[in-house]
Amino acid sequence: MEWKKEGFFLKSVSSNKELKKMVGLRAADLVKDGMKIGIGTGSTVAFFIEELGRRVKEEGLRIQGVPTSLGTRLLCLEQGIPLMDVTRCDHLDLTIDGADEIDPSLNAIKGGGAAHTSEKIIASMADQFILIADKTKMVSSLCRKFPLPVEVIPAALSFAKKQIRLLGGIPEIRDAARKDGPVITDNGNLILDIKFPHPPNDLELLDAQLKKIPGLLETGLFLGIAKKALIGYQDTVEVVSPKG
Ligand code: 5RP
Repeated sequence: MEWKKEGFFLKSVSSNKELKKMVGLRAADLVKDGMKIGIGTGSTVAFFIEELGRRVKEEGLRIQGVPTSLGTRLLCLEQGIPLMDVTRCDHLDLTIDGADEIDPSLNAIKGGGAAHTSEKIIASMADQFILIADKTKMVSSLCRKFPLPVEVIPAALSFAKKQIRLLGGIPEIRDAARKDGPVITDNGNLILDIKFPHPPNDLELLDAQLKKIPGLLETGLFLGIAKKALIGYQDTVEVVSPKG
């Protein structure tokens, strides 16, 4: 999973399906009757949604879900999970979401699915934010392998790229896979994926510097938000707490 010579490494939704399924199922066990649940985005969360739907149908589990993206909304509707609009919500009991990279302190990079702005809002309003991922997402430090996604409004594109370069990053606009042109987020914006040839050690500072760029809506850095992660290894799900 090195940087490609041209273009950027992005996530693979078809890899490690068994491990993703294991953690998705385990996360669904944590959901209790009456809870309001934030529901993340991605191929790992898809297994969580499937199992949650099964529990709603077969066990009569009563929950309200708040989806982090249109993709998640559609999956939840397919599975019969009752939904609540995020605009009516300021508190959740639990949010479950995937990640692109997780460090030992459970800081994470998210946004491989271009949903990190809503994901951060929905993670932040939960009593508990739990990451679910296969073992390949665990890294010793962030921003070494996976590019850092940021969401920018279209008018800010050129200026944001220039400012990111001044911070030592190499930004690349994310292109859509099955549409000509760029990825357009659920908010109607663009994604820049940033590679750092000299990865910064102070991620809080980087996050603050990026967020000072006018028109840069949100970064994919989730610092200090997760207090638990469920990580899938060959035969087991490890429950990880933040170190340090
Ligand atoms: C979407 C995300 C996803 O949670 C992240 O990309 C992980 O996805 P997957 O489970 O498919 O590997 O941040 O914006």
